[in-house]
Amino acid sequence: MAVQLETKKLSNFINGEWVEGSTFTSVMNPATGEEIVQVPLSSSNDVNAAVAAAKKAQKEWALVPAPQRAEVLYRVGYLLKERKERLSQLLTQENGKVIEEARGEVQEGIDMAFYMAGEGRRLFGQTTPAELKEKFAMSQRAPVGVVGIITPWNFPIAIATWKSFPAIVAGNAVVWKPATETPIMAYELAKIFEEAGLPKGVINVVFGSGRTVGDAMVQHPDIRVISFTGSNNVGRNIAAQCGRQLKKVSLEMGGKNAVIVMDDADLDLAVEGILWSAFGTSGQRCTACSRVIVHEKVKGALEERLRSAMEKLTIGNGLYESIKVGPIINQAGLDKIKQYIEIGKNEGATLLEGGYELTGNQHEKGHYFAPTLFTDVSSEMRIAQEEIFGPVVSLIPVKSFEEAIEVNNSVEYGLSSSIYTNDINRVFKAQRDLDTGIVYVNAGTTGAEIHLPFGGTKGTGNGHRDSGIQALDVFTEWKAVYVDYSGKLQRAQIDVE
Ligand code: UN1
Repeated sequence: MAVQLETKKLSNFINGEWVEGSTFTSVMNPATGEEIVQVPLSSSNDVNAAVAAAKKAQKEWALVPAPQRAEVLYRVGYLLKERKERLSQLLTQENGKVIEEARGEVQEGIDMAFYMAGEGRRLFGQTTPAELKEKFAMSQRAPVGVVGIITPWNFPIAIATWKSFPAIVAGNAVVWKPATETPIMAYELAKIFEEAGLPKGVINVVFGSGRTVGDAMVQHPDIRVISFTGSNNVGRNIAAQCGRQLKKVSLEMGGKNAVIVMDDADLDLAVEGILWSAFGTSGQRCTACSRVIVHEKVKGALEERLRSAMEKLTIGNGLYESIKVGPIINQAGLDKIKQYIEIGKNEGATLLEGGYELTGNQHEKGHYFAPTLFTDVSSEMRIAQEEIFGPVVSLIPVKSFEEAIEVNNSVEYGLSSSIYTNDINRVFKAQRDLDTGIVYVNAGTTGAEIHLPFGGTKGTGNGHRDSGIQALDVFTEWKAVYVDYSGKLQRAQIDVE
């Protein structure tokens, strides 16, 4: 029997206390349709309380030397490691992703903890010569203050760690709104922070809807940064509101990622990469491969191999190790996928595989969709342009390398891309010309590692990055410090002769 949550009702975590909610909504296991827990639907008052606590806590937290702040993150890392299997099983139950992937996601959080804890002894600024005699100059990072993080249901623990760990090690306090579909990871992570000895109020978790809780965070004058991962529409709206308040905002909003398969590619390797990145997490990743741009010379062979590999995929409850593709998060997710199947058919694409909801027997109670392959798709079609967030791939034939790059770049998004080729010149041209924040060579579009910047160009974001050292730029201000030890007035730019 899988790990069960001890509580049937979650509470907010504000100022180090577990604060009961008054209204709740059910959280369903997408594999079984069963309620697993109830989550509070908080109000703007709860947000206000969390921000007030964070503001107070942040003043002291910022004065704790960074290496000591980092000690808390090391402890968080060890606790995550100790509880990896428990967290993974709970993650599969709330999100649906298969257990092997859940373990991978929890590992991403563990990696992030140790990586960011290391920043406690770095947080490097620069020392630099000054232009005047007996003057010292340096730049250093300063915390921004109270930061708001809004995280999605598809990577409920990994993305939370990409945002909260750099924020905390840099001396900020956090108000966090996790997705209501997947609150258990937030609850578990808050408990871990508590046990690791993070001072009260440095992290606050407020459960609830984007419209109420998210909006109150975006509007709150004491939250100086919003870091958001989610849909493009919501992100644009947040950015507009933050813009009016001169509030810093970091956005990560999805993709329409392609695997390019050239005529000289190792096709079996490409099939494995496509399968993993298109149908892992049931295609519900920002980095998921939803387009395959294939050289026409190998189109037939690729179609055939993809089809036979897809037919072997096992679909069901991801707690069973034999299952390769789990459920879709909820009915709304499923409905959206179904709509795109109709759109694809009406646009004249050829449905080669899948295209239907799975029902009956083991699929009766959850939300399941068959891995789907369209072919003869042209780049302008909506199924080749819009994010579907499901196990649906569109195969787009092209005549040349140049056309492949052009098709790759012809979408609104720019998160991840991949090319399968054995031609070294094409490899270097592709990594230069693919207009995405992440580029893979001879690997699928997923699999970002936490010490590299995560994010994308164009409609994927607004120039910021999650994870990697770059995440620190979101959660810090640069401060330039000059110390004049000459004992006299020295005017920059003037007294330089
Ligand atoms: C996401 O889909 O938002 O590279 C995150 C990957 C994972 C993270 C995905 N490490 O696919």
